Amino acid sequence: MYTQLQMRDSTRPPVSLATLDRMKASGEKIACLTCYDASFAVLVDEADTDVVLVGDSLGMVIQGHDTTVPVTMDDMVYHCRAVARGLQRPLLMADLPFASYPTRDVALANAVRLMQEGGAEMVKLESGPSQIDIVEFLASHDVAVCAHLGLKPQSVHKTGGFRVQGREADAAERMIASARALESAGADIVLLECIPTELGRRITDALTVPVIGIGAGPHTDGQILVLYDVLDVTTGRKPRFVLNCMEGAGSNLEAMRRYVRAVKDKSYPAPEHCFA
Ligand code: KIV
Repeated sequence: MYTQLQMRDSTRPPVSLATLDRMKASGEKIACLTCYDASFAVLVDEADTDVVLVGDSLGMVIQGHDTTVPVTMDDMVYHCRAVARGLQRPLLMADLPFASYPTRDVALANAVRLMQEGGAEMVKLESGPSQIDIVEFLASHDVAVCAHLGLKPQSVHKTGGFRVQGREADAAERMIASARALESAGADIVLLECIPTELGRRITDALTVPVIGIGAGPHTDGQILVLYDVLDVTTGRKPRFVLNCMEGAGSNLEAMRRYVRAVKDKSYPAPEHCFA
């Protein structure tokens, strides 16, 4: 009994929500990366990443689609299960993909799939006022939830592209109100994508739960990037928040360590990675 737990390296206890809360309270930045397979998961863990996201960005970086919209629940479960096999210390979060959370019951059934079949410890969903009751329902069924605000890639066909969000005063106020409502509904983490630095600071200060940013400025409690951007594998035009850690690094593991170090010592994100 408990063999798996006993085999864990006790010098590196697993990251839990309580760990992240403590990091927010102490001011230690939370370093997060995406990951899509077991081999990279072993390295991401060895690099001391705190949170690993099996993101639906896999639709773009693994499957070669232009957006995340074609990604299915089966795709997510497949990649999540592979990543889970490679991880010991980091908290494992997985995306609920496009149209997989239209109602509370469907959202719960799909969150359960990610947890029971995929090994995820937390699910992330692109959120706004329409998802508040879904977050509440998941939280009331003991599902750990990350609410994703700001640029929501699953909505690009509706919103008209990958753009910075929350620049206008009323949009910024609406986002702050949504973040507060999602926290009250039971979200355990909020993730902010592509918003102005000042809005990232305001939302982080307004919430008690940890806030992770991607292109949301230096004031969030943690940072996340797509692994393939850090490893300089992605081709084409890169968003300004991307940090290429391969330059001068001798290996993938060294590049991941550089990223974690840059988040922890707050040298990333620098002003050139941020939006006004
Ligand atoms: O799918 C993903 O990789 C994400 C990150 C960009 C935060 O949602």
